[in-house]
Amino acid sequence: MTTPTDRLTPDELRTLFLFEALDDRQLDWLAEHGRVEQRAAGTVVYAEGEPATCFFVLLRGAVALSRRVHGDEVEVTRTGQRGVYGGATQAYLDDEAEQVYRNTLRAVDEAEFFVLPAESFAHAVRSWFPMAMHLLEGLFIGMRNAQTIVGERERLLALGSLSAGLTHELNNPAAAAVRATSVLRDRVAGMRHKLAMIADGRLDGRALHTLVELQEEAVARVAAAPQLSAMAAADAEDALADWLAEQRIGAGWDLAPTLVAGGLDEEWLARVRAAVGAADLEAAVRWLTYTVETELLMREIGDAVTRISGLVGAAKQYSQLDRAPYQVVDVHDLLDATLVMFKGKLPAGVRLVKEYDRGLPPVPAYAAELNQVWTNLIDNALGAMGEKGTLTLRTGRDGDLLAVEIADTGPGIPPDVRPRIFEPFFTTKPVGSGTGLGLDISYRIVVHKHHGDIRVESTPGATTFRVLLPLTAAPAAGPEPVP
Ligand SMILES: Nc1ncnc2c1ncn2[C@@H]1O[C@H](COP(=O)(O)OP(=O)(O)OP(=O)(O)O)[C@@H](O)[C@H]1O
Ligand SMILES: [Mg+2]
Repeated sequence: MTTPTDRLTPDELRTLFLFEALDDRQLDWLAEHGRVEQRAAGTVVYAEGEPATCFFVLLRGAVALSRRVHGDEVEVTRTGQRGVYGGATQAYLDDEAEQVYRNTLRAVDEAEFFVLPAESFAHAVRSWFPMAMHLLEGLFIGMRNAQTIVGERERLLALGSLSAGLTHELNNPAAAAVRATSVLRDRVAGMRHKLAMIADGRLDGRALHTLVELQEEAVARVAAAPQLSAMAAADAEDALADWLAEQRIGAGWDLAPTLVAGGLDEEWLARVRAAVGAADLEAAVRWLTYTVETELLMREIGDAVTRISGLVGAAKQYSQLDRAPYQVVDVHDLLDATLVMFKGKLPAGVRLVKEYDRGLPPVPAYAAELNQVWTNLIDNALGAMGEKGTLTLRTGRDGDLLAVEIADTGPGIPPDVRPRIFEPFFTTKPVGSGTGLGLDISYRIVVHKHHGDIRVESTPGATTFRVLLPLTAAPAAGPEPVP
């Protein structure tokens, strides 16, 4: 396919705009190192992603330049202008840049090129234009660093606003646990006091034994107590307060709510009366109320602490701080951990729908970075929907890829915006609200790090971002073997 047929003379080279200012010695050098090559119509001159080995200058014919954008080949330009160039244009950057073709060049008609090996091109630029070389290098590296720094910054900001939400989420159960603990301390002291009163000799051993049995029963009832509606609870409390008043127990309205919450009713308390006698009923009821109350408080503390450790677990899962960066993970765990981070940020009018295919195998992944992807996509979805809508997280299989879909019912992405959304710094949000890096970062994580793909489908009312991940590791990206 590639048959060197010819060389150009220095004078011919001078007619190309790229070389017009070179001196005779430089033109001689180019003439000696470059060659002329032909390509038939329709053939690929060089392909995106392949090692960039040559620099091409068009001499005759026409070419089309295209780039892969999210799996689609998009033609960027088509030209027959003599002198246009392409290929290993960054060869002079050496190992500062990955030396692969950044796009694909095709011959539209039969085309002829002046072809220079990448090393020769790099050598020429470096030795003939040292100052320009420094400037270009500075520009290139500077831009790349700026992008990395802004990206990091963005990641930290995202994490910062999420952890603010998490802190808020942690506060509620923590405050509940602290409050319940202090009430519990009070009640336990009260119980010690009551116990002394009950045991001061008026109850015989049998009655005391029965009371302890009733207490155990009360504890069991608390555990099984049905959650009553506010109305049903109020009715039950009224009835119980009346019964307590009939029994001449003072401030029954104060005890009734606790007893009802613990699932104790008049019928059950009648058994208490039968066991301890009318004279000691009040002391016994107050004692049992304490029992119920301490049980309820302990349950509240248990729930709060469980929620706290759940949140901390999710935060750990989300940040992956104590995990290997590259590991085999269940994407559902990652999605759920990310959702926990959003808990405080989910507007009340937004419905969350999970359609998980739990049968999916775990996949090799950079887990923390994938969480960053879900975060960006969910953030965009929520941003698009505002106060109302449905956020759907769906997982499934697509051939030998795992698919995660994040869909929203927002206004959709307008067709003129669609081609640009993955560009760094592209945003339609007001100045100061979006950096426009969310999708750029996500794209790099999914496509470059995981060799997967991100696709988007959007109509007004239905936007779906689809992340595709390979089910098995690419050989080069495989996890480090654990010794
Ligand atoms: N789910 C979506 N619905 C509608 N438009 C979207 C959606 N997701 C992304 N976009 C569009 O793509 C643009 C780029 O998204 P990207 O996440 O890269 O940046 P951003 O959200 O604007 O800013 P940042 O992520 O830094 O907050 C958005 O400004 C928006 O116009
Ligand atoms: Mg975004």
